[in-house]
Amino acid sequence: MTTTAIILAAGQGTRMNSDLPKVLHEIGAAPLLAHVLQAAAAVEPARMIVVTGHGAAAVEAAVAKFAPMAECVLQEEQRGTGHAVLAAKPMLGGKTGDAIVLFGDTPFIRPETLAKMVEARAAHDIVVLGFEPADPGRYGRLVTKGESLEAIVEWKDADEATRAIKLCNSGVIAADLNVMLDLLSAADNNNAAGEIYLTDIVSLARKRGLSATTVLCDATETLGINTRAELAKAEAISQANARAEALENGVGLVAPDTVHFAFDTYISRDAIVEQQVIFGLGVTVENGARIRAFSHLEGAQVSMGAVVGPYARLRPGTELAEFVKVGNFVEIKNAIIADGAKVSHLSYIGDAEIGRSTNVGAGTVTCNYDGVFKHRTVIGENCFIGSNTMLIAPVTLGDESMTASGSVITRDVPEAALAIGRARQDNKLGLARRMFEKLKNAKEKLGKGS
Ligand code: UD1
Ligand code: CA
Repeated sequence: MTTTAIILAAGQGTRMNSDLPKVLHEIGAAPLLAHVLQAAAAVEPARMIVVTGHGAAAVEAAVAKFAPMAECVLQEEQRGTGHAVLAAKPMLGGKTGDAIVLFGDTPFIRPETLAKMVEARAAHDIVVLGFEPADPGRYGRLVTKGESLEAIVEWKDADEATRAIKLCNSGVIAADLNVMLDLLSAADNNNAAGEIYLTDIVSLARKRGLSATTVLCDATETLGINTRAELAKAEAISQANARAEALENGVGLVAPDTVHFAFDTYISRDAIVEQQVIFGLGVTVENGARIRAFSHLEGAQVSMGAVVGPYARLRPGTELAEFVKVGNFVEIKNAIIADGAKVSHLSYIGDAEIGRSTNVGAGTVTCNYDGVFKHRTVIGENCFIGSNTMLIAPVTLGDESMTASGSVITRDVPEAALAIGRARQDNKLGLARRMFEKLKNAKEKLGKGS
């Protein structure tokens, strides 16, 4: 059975009070929409279609980044969830199989839950994901008769008796694709919101003698984000989940509540993460590595046994091989550091390669940017870079070479050479003492006047 996942993401999210479309607000450093796309991808749909509207260009860019296989379709005017699904119709001509509709602002849906819905489809024409929240508020209500789902009634359209129903609509609905489109073409906007409701397909289906049922999930999964307060709460929930999962997987967290994960952070068993560490997108930390306190990592691969920080910053494109050491106040960007190399203190390494077992002294800077272009620095194996070396890229240093402390290296350094690029020292005997005397005298004269 092929499945098409349709993700509705055209709404503005007025209550966020933001210029950013709601589905682009982030949890775990990734847009809400990315979380939904990831859950949808887990059921291996043949296609994923995202319905865009407000901020369509930005939403499309996020889709391209987080789910390049997904396609986007524009819903010019937002006239309801059913209308949004119909916006995808031109892309679905002649296609068969199932459709599963998800909302872009419901980031906690678990793939296991979607899989349960796909399974339930074997015995029912329409499957709706329901839940029982502590406070049913304004959710649509699921009207059931035994096992059968008879209708979904929006809160705005519901009478008192229907509003008293505890079982609510999550928004996720699965059905045969063509049945869904067919039912939707019969839906109208005669309701309190004047919208075409996707939810209407249930009562329409029952009238035609088709079956509908409910799959239940936990209320935590269907938490929708409508306000910034809800977004902050959702972030806290997602961090708590990520920490629990990391501990469960054998990751050492010294102070779990102070570590912030991105939605795709991958940390192996027996890696240790100390206090106050922040992970941005795209970080992998291998077995036995240690991320020391107050470090910030993004787009970085940290291999087995490497030590990072305290106070280190790893930016996108950083690859640390096994047993590399990156110490305090070191920033690394787009650089490959080979096995056992060390950059221990106060350095910037950008657009660079550093060879095996090379030691980079304190305060070294790869001067990679000339104001217009970025250039590479390549350092060989077993080199010794003296403290406070400025490496003016593009520049290459051969294996087993050295630079003298304080050098400004503007030309390539051959293998095994020592490069000295600084002014020669000159000692003026007694001059310091004479200078001190002169200065102290001057200060004394001034002191009398003022
Ligand atoms: C919807 C359901 C309701 C359910 C609730 C769960 C309908 C009619 N109602 O209500 O039963 O309890 O979700 O959270 O389906 N969207 C579009 N285009 C549109 C309208 C909406 O893409 O024209 C998208 C929104 O961006 C959002 C999703 O669909 O991601 C849900 O829309 P929203 O207006 O928030 O629906 P609710 O009123 O919350
Ligand atoms: Ca909503």
